Amino acid sequence: MRGLILAGGSGTRLRPFTHTGPKQLIPIANRPNILYCLEDLRNAGIADIGVILGDNQPERVRELLKDGRDFGVRITYIVQGPPKGIAHAIGCAEEFLKGDAFCVYLGDNLLKGGIRAMVEEFNGSDVDAGIALCRVPNPEMFGVAELDSSGHVKGLVEKPKTPKSDLALVGIYLLRDNIFPIIRELKPSWRNELEITDALEALRTKGGKILAHVVTGWWKDTGKPEDILEANRLILDELTTRIEGTVEDGAQVSGRVAIGRGTVVQKGAVIAGPVVIGEDCTIGPGTYIGPYTAIGDRSVLGPADIENSIVLSDAHIATRHKIVASLIGRHTRIDEDEHARPKGTRLVLGEHSRVRL
Ligand code: DAU
Repeated sequence: MRGLILAGGSGTRLRPFTHTGPKQLIPIANRPNILYCLEDLRNAGIADIGVILGDNQPERVRELLKDGRDFGVRITYIVQGPPKGIAHAIGCAEEFLKGDAFCVYLGDNLLKGGIRAMVEEFNGSDVDAGIALCRVPNPEMFGVAELDSSGHVKGLVEKPKTPKSDLALVGIYLLRDNIFPIIRELKPSWRNELEITDALEALRTKGGKILAHVVTGWWKDTGKPEDILEANRLILDELTTRIEGTVEDGAQVSGRVAIGRGTVVQKGAVIAGPVVIGEDCTIGPGTYIGPYTAIGDRSVLGPADIENSIVLSDAHIATRHKIVASLIGRHTRIDEDEHARPKGTRLVLGEHSRVRL
């Protein structure tokens, strides 16, 4: 079986992050989202993987994954360009995928427990497609499946206004060659995309068998900032302690904490896990890093008070203002002007920034 990871799309809901790269590279607990997808495929025995590239800095995906050898897989890049839909992206990969069953993994999805069981079940069956479903409180935001009383798929609709169930389609699809003629006949949806949900529904109405697997663990589509923070919390919940840097005498580190090589947690700093800190960071005196925080490589903090947040690499934070539930981009500098009177907020923000004060 071959794999296909989608790393195209526009990522408009994640601006300004997606001004500096594809959303699939946003780190969750200090690891780009796409690496979790790659690992799930590899752990399911899928080592031949196509990666769909879009038009938002695709070179950054190539720089990270290269030929895949560092991750124990073989990567073939397939250029989609502008986002014309998930089914369109799969169609672009026909040459690479045909002749074999394959697994499509959306590069902004995260699934606890991986896909091994689902892949094994599919491989041992004669079904035409395998889908994963997850109960969600807001099904209208996803593809939605309706099942009959014996668990067979009765209908699949993309982002319905009035969903027939709370079962969202997870962004992982097991497919065979017979999906390609269906994709060729698809018409663009209201959002002008070729929808994978419409392709699956067409397969079903033509008599194709679809195996639905309802996931029991958590699943996250990291399409919006709040989803990224939640995914970060879910991954950090499973963190194991690993201290490769230096914790000076007089620094306090408690709970599950991972500290990368070259990082120094200085005397007077307090870290309360689960927290992950990358490599070559300096965590200075007067700094509190609270639960569910991920700090990227080469960041310098102190004094600082931060929790439940993601700080990408090369950030400088020196303020006593508490920072909570925040996403802080690469090379960001946050400090304070102690002499400013009356107290106000000075901001220098680029296009499409979002600030909550
Ligand atoms: O996450 C699950 C959901 O993903 C499903 O429930 C929906 O049925 C499915 O349509 C999809 O919905 P989204 O609206 O979240 O899809 P999005 O546009 O965010 O794209 C999903 C991923 O695929 C994302 O990593 C970007 C990539 N992509 C997307 C398009 C439209 C491409 O590589 N090329 C594309 O043309």
